[in-house]
Amino acid sequence: MKKEKIKYICDICGHEEAKWAGKCPACFSWNSFSEISLPPGRKHSSAKKNLDPTKQAVSIAEIASDKNNVVLKDCGIEEINRVLGGGIVSGSAILIGGEPGIGKSTLMMQLAQKISESSKVLYISGEESQPQIRLRLDRLGIKEGGELVFIFTSDLYTIKETITNLKPDTVIVDSIQTLFSPEAGSVAGTINQLKYCCQELIDIIKLADASIFLIAHVTKEGIIAGPKSIEHMVDTVLYFEHSENEMRILRAVKNRFGSIDELALFKMGGNGLQQITSPENSFLIHREKNNPPGICIATIHEGSRVFLVEIQALTVPAKGGLSRVFSDRIDGSRISRIAAVLEKQTGVRFSDQDIYINVAGGMKIKEVGVDLPAALALYSSRTGIPINQGTAAAGELSLTGEIRPVLFISKRLKSASSCGIKEFYSSEDSSKNFSKEDGDCKSPLSKHITAGTINEIIKILFK
Ligand code: TYD
Ligand code: MG
Repeated sequence: MKKEKIKYICDICGHEEAKWAGKCPACFSWNSFSEISLPPGRKHSSAKKNLDPTKQAVSIAEIASDKNNVVLKDCGIEEINRVLGGGIVSGSAILIGGEPGIGKSTLMMQLAQKISESSKVLYISGEESQPQIRLRLDRLGIKEGGELVFIFTSDLYTIKETITNLKPDTVIVDSIQTLFSPEAGSVAGTINQLKYCCQELIDIIKLADASIFLIAHVTKEGIIAGPKSIEHMVDTVLYFEHSENEMRILRAVKNRFGSIDELALFKMGGNGLQQITSPENSFLIHREKNNPPGICIATIHEGSRVFLVEIQALTVPAKGGLSRVFSDRIDGSRISRIAAVLEKQTGVRFSDQDIYINVAGGMKIKEVGVDLPAALALYSSRTGIPINQGTAAAGELSLTGEIRPVLFISKRLKSASSCGIKEFYSSEDSSKNFSKEDGDCKSPLSKHITAGTINEIIKILFK
């Protein structure tokens, strides 16, 4: 009879050794090796079996196209379809991460219910007990009906058996941090367990052409060590985040089947998450009186949609003459550059000021079109002259003070108009771009002002 094979795996980094060691040679952690005994005759669990090793290499012409096999399945929730790139691709593995309490289980249960109207869904709850799941089902108003089944376990073997017997089209694992297999060490919740269990599950899901959603808890400290270590195994990585105004943002950070620019917005209500399908003005603040100085509205193009956000600026004399920039939503060095250009072009001093920049609603902005509204907000705060409500801007600012055009100007103008914007400032070429994008249409805004430099715009806007 064959003997059991013993190996030692580091719980921290997954490094394998044939002998026990006190210190891991890979990650230098002490006392991190666990003994693992593999049952005799255990085959490597690769998805690819019986392959002739001599026939592995193929030329470009021989590479098979998968076009006809990629089936996009409507998941029933439009916002999730959008983030996934149109729907769920069969055979795909999707990781959904987020801080505890953000609403991952709620979102996945709502999704499970929608999918189960047309196909079989297996929900694996390793975290919550039956009464807890019952409470959530009642709260979400999910009744008996679709093909949705639950198992309450974290044991990988039981899960694999259930998947093999039940043959679900979609599997939801809540959460991957609870998965456990004795083959990956004796301690639950280690990186080893995470990697091993996820790979095993993904392998059987791919073979069965089903799809799997893996819920992962992400805490600020654990973001690298935990779910990050399995991001390479999955096809799509979604993160569920809070915005400041109680909205939940679902965004793709990796997607083998679509773009990663798309966002989905949800609001948590008394009976689950509601999608926000026209989010243009969700980030805007409505004021009865006129704006205080330091505020300008920007049109931000993210994914396939435009969002209007309020850029807030504050400048105060710097302590000790050393100017600092505090901006966590827009890159601080970009703000420094904008302030420098403003100082050079308008003669108003920013180099003796501390600069604070905020984006109301908490959206992080990377796109270049935010330069102009940020510059206007800064100028408004520094001079104390407010910008009228109903004014928005988009444009990139060059080091020489020119305003460069931004993409999708026509879409921005339309969204701005639908949010009640009356005045819009952008680069000179924008009107040309607009007619190119939109035939010979007139701008939907009554006052679309275009100018070549920041100085011209400031002269018109601040009179
Ligand atoms: P949950 O989905 O359990 O978060 P996660 O799985 O990411 O840890 O739910 C998070 C919070 O949402 C919880 O505090 C309760 C709240 N909630 C509502 O406000 N409304 C609802 O309908 C539900 C189901 C939950
Ligand atoms: Mg949960």
